[in-house]
Amino acid sequence: MTLLDGKQTAETIKEEIAAEVKNIIAEGGRAPHLAAILVGNDGGSVTYVTNKVLACERVGFESTLIQMEDTVSEEILLGKIAELNNDPEIDGFIVQLPLPKHIDTEKVLEAVDHRKDVDGFHPVNVGRMVAGLPAFLPATPYGILQLLERYKIDTFGKHCVVVGRSKIVGTPMSILMSKCTYPGECTVTICHRNTVDLAHHTRQADILIVAIGKPEFITADMVKEGAVVIDVGTTRVADATRKAGFKLKGDVKFDEVAPKCSYITPVPGGVGPLTIAMLLKNTLRAARHEIY
Ligand code: GUN
Repeated sequence: MTLLDGKQTAETIKEEIAAEVKNIIAEGGRAPHLAAILVGNDGGSVTYVTNKVLACERVGFESTLIQMEDTVSEEILLGKIAELNNDPEIDGFIVQLPLPKHIDTEKVLEAVDHRKDVDGFHPVNVGRMVAGLPAFLPATPYGILQLLERYKIDTFGKHCVVVGRSKIVGTPMSILMSKCTYPGECTVTICHRNTVDLAHHTRQADILIVAIGKPEFITADMVKEGAVVIDVGTTRVADATRKAGFKLKGDVKFDEVAPKCSYITPVPGGVGPLTIAMLLKNTLRAARHEIY
């Protein structure tokens, strides 16, 4: 069994990005600039956004964090988005999700200029991804593709089973794994809460990608011997022995599943760190106008 070291892979990607930023500046250009809008103070979201901003500094990017009260009106939020769309100094920006209930998330995501949509959530980017056109890919699926590629995992003709159909991970992941580019060329099954006999499907998987946010949901009896297992779950579970008061749990019962796998991602240190690295990569691509 080989552990897929997302932390190390993310470090390598960030070093590559930092080297490219140095080149841009040496050639007289300016540093890529990422902005993030954070509405409210949900614990997970604050941590993610803070880590995104810190990661910008590490690779030599400019970053701007815009914090808004969770009572902010949709109108004011849309106004801020319009401002960022029109600001030539901002190459890309994200609106951290989830948003408070009184705000229409779809409307907000559609308001982001698709040329600055480094999260890849705008319908134009989603549509272009499905059509196989150049697009900003959502960071988590993009990170998983990087992990498969950098560990040279064979995906050709394999059966990939994706558990979870979220717009951020499961749905785009299933599409990308079916594409005729590497990593891809898989036969894909996508499972969700209404799938009948889930274990029947997961046991068929050569590559099992789980993104449901249910700690330790996937047990050893649900996994085929020799499978590649990618665990996207990061649920905070109370743990009084930790300084933070919680620890992160994946969707896979790691201790019993790992011995059956050819490759598996740990939690933490698997997919999580790659999400931030790929957001930076998208911002670099936006700054260089590689897509639009
Ligand atoms: N919330 C959970 N994952 C993400 C992400 O990748 N981007 C944003 N903006 N919000 C999220």
